[in-house]
Amino acid sequence: MMEDAARIEGLLRAMTLEEKVGQLTMIRADFDAAGSTLLAPKLADIAAGRAGSVLDLRGASAILLGQKAAVENSRLKIPLLFTLDVLHGYRTIFPVPLGEAAAFEPDLWTRTARAAAVEAAADGIALTYAPMLDVARDPRWGRIVESAGEDPFVTARFAEAKVKGFQTDDLARSDAVAATAKHFAGYAAVNAGREYASADFSQRTLEEVYLPPFAASVNAGVAAIMPAFIELAGVPLTAHRALLTGVLRKRFGFDGVLVSDFFAVAELIKHGVAADAAEAAALALNAGVDIDMASGTYTEGLPEALARGLVRIETIDAAVRRVLALKLALGLFEKPYARGEGALAPATIEAYRALAREAARQSVVLLQNNGALPLPAQTGRLAVIGPLADAPGEMLGPWRAAGEASETVSFLAGVETAFPQATVIHANGGDIPAALEAARASDAVLLFLGETANMSGEANSRARPVIPEAQRALAEAVFALGKPVIVTLTSGRPLVAPWLFEKAHAVLAAWFLGSEAGNALGDILSGAAAPGGKLPLSWPFDAGQIPVYYGERPTGRPADPENHDTSKYLDVPNAPQFPFGHGLTYTRFDYTEPRASVATLRPGEILTVEVDIANIGDVAGEETVYLFIRDPLASVTRPLLELKAFTRIKALPGERVTARFHLTTDAFSFPDADGKPRLEPGEIEILTGPGAASSLLKRCRVHIVTNE
Ligand code: BGC
Repeated sequence: MMEDAARIEGLLRAMTLEEKVGQLTMIRADFDAAGSTLLAPKLADIAAGRAGSVLDLRGASAILLGQKAAVENSRLKIPLLFTLDVLHGYRTIFPVPLGEAAAFEPDLWTRTARAAAVEAAADGIALTYAPMLDVARDPRWGRIVESAGEDPFVTARFAEAKVKGFQTDDLARSDAVAATAKHFAGYAAVNAGREYASADFSQRTLEEVYLPPFAASVNAGVAAIMPAFIELAGVPLTAHRALLTGVLRKRFGFDGVLVSDFFAVAELIKHGVAADAAEAAALALNAGVDIDMASGTYTEGLPEALARGLVRIETIDAAVRRVLALKLALGLFEKPYARGEGALAPATIEAYRALAREAARQSVVLLQNNGALPLPAQTGRLAVIGPLADAPGEMLGPWRAAGEASETVSFLAGVETAFPQATVIHANGGDIPAALEAARASDAVLLFLGETANMSGEANSRARPVIPEAQRALAEAVFALGKPVIVTLTSGRPLVAPWLFEKAHAVLAAWFLGSEAGNALGDILSGAAAPGGKLPLSWPFDAGQIPVYYGERPTGRPADPENHDTSKYLDVPNAPQFPFGHGLTYTRFDYTEPRASVATLRPGEILTVEVDIANIGDVAGEETVYLFIRDPLASVTRPLLELKAFTRIKALPGERVTARFHLTTDAFSFPDADGKPRLEPGEIEILTGPGAASSLLKRCRVHIVTNE
């Protein structure tokens, strides 16, 4: 807007260099026994215009104090931007992103982000560091929990849904929060899944796997983007001009703010590409990074970099313009205190709790079931066993914002509510004989195993993503009793456990389900609700298979058990334990062949594909239906399967519904050998079904005709 531009230029003219650098500087809150706060030195920096944004300050009153220091005490009265990691809920905690991805429901993804934004904004937060858009194929990497799984198409839809939910279509709303797409790009590809290690992958993988979700977030209007901490093929992303300026700004047209990751500007020195703060600041700023998160390197280094001729004042000004434009768009100049109005109406909080329960039910994936679930209503004695049975705090996962264990429903509490007539016998499993006694006295055992929240997330890589040894010993002892055993796995990643899948009567993947974990699980165990999730990533059979994902490219020697010299292992199968899209429910579905609306398709035309799905079980159910393509002959190799659409259907017993997909020819183009998007003529297979397991997919063909 003209007025905004004039206001920004007016401010820029009035600003000293120190004030300009201040707008590019994010300080972190101080911490004392009572929580986060701003101590006198930081309040003085704010009043002096040496800080433009704040990380990790929580609570409406603390934020109000900080905002007043900027708006009332600083020379130019530029409001502060208060920022926090609000990934999957603020006070009401929803399932972790990997869990919520399993719902395959963009509308749900938007609604939970909206609720999180309303709660966070009520406390004064104006920007969140979400959505995390790292396509993740390595469960050793702890941050896979923050991702939407292995697939770029799903992650791109997740990106759009989350940006819409956090930001709405008007950032100036007092309940809107700016979103930050992160971590750009390829962070999930760290060597051997080890946190903060380097990554090195091809241009094709960048284009086909890592960039699409970020492109989608830019198209959805994301306000900010964060480069990853790591280096990619020799260039730290914080200093990656080709990607930050070349791809994000020039190619994608991103005109929002680039915020460094925590201390990443200073870490350019440890990466070995900058000798001192001035060089580090210059590298980041010249690459395109507008805000230095917490490291103080812009404050320390930018004036010196300017004096040495390493940066130009025009580059600093351009970054300041973007920061001020974001603050204007957020309405902070007009109403600096509009966010932070505090308490929400009880009815709103109640609605968010109901949403958390719904989201948790949709996120649970029923991995296997021999009929043990749902549990019969008349089950008399239930043993609830394991370290995660009564662990409300663990349900919140690694990014819990303002979530409280005391406001979280444990599995034990959920089971007690769902089975009011049953005698529930609880044992945490630390004492195996006591747990076995509880199990012996029961009709069925509910075993709660997996990871605590601090075993996944940032800096929580695990070389062996397995169920901890002590829990395995407990589980094996319980299995030996021969009772029906239903296992609920809490985790931020798929856990390699073939031994468990051999013996358990039913297994549920519950991820970290959030505030309503116990109630949602109770709904599913009792059959009041059917499990709705499907795996957003392949579940490895063995850690040695990692990375295992459905979108592999063909080999010249496809696996053939009869032929030794083919692509396989001597010691483990190629197939994962469960493929992408796997997930059972309490009914079964039967799929017809897909029907294509046309036999040939030209550039710009739309293809409609229909598939009928019949509920052939006894209860109502929901099902995610997938549409993949396969291009069997092209100028470069194409993946064995590529997801191009998904949708969720609902059907009553005996009901048959039609899923309908619309594809443009863009779905069939790909980067050619020179990296340019190209639509090639020829045949494309369209495959539809309940997941990526090829035996379950049915197909039809269309012919692409181009003018080539
Ligand atoms: C993480 C980011 C996060 C930031 C701020 C970093 O350690 O990598 O994802 O947004 O901290 O908390």
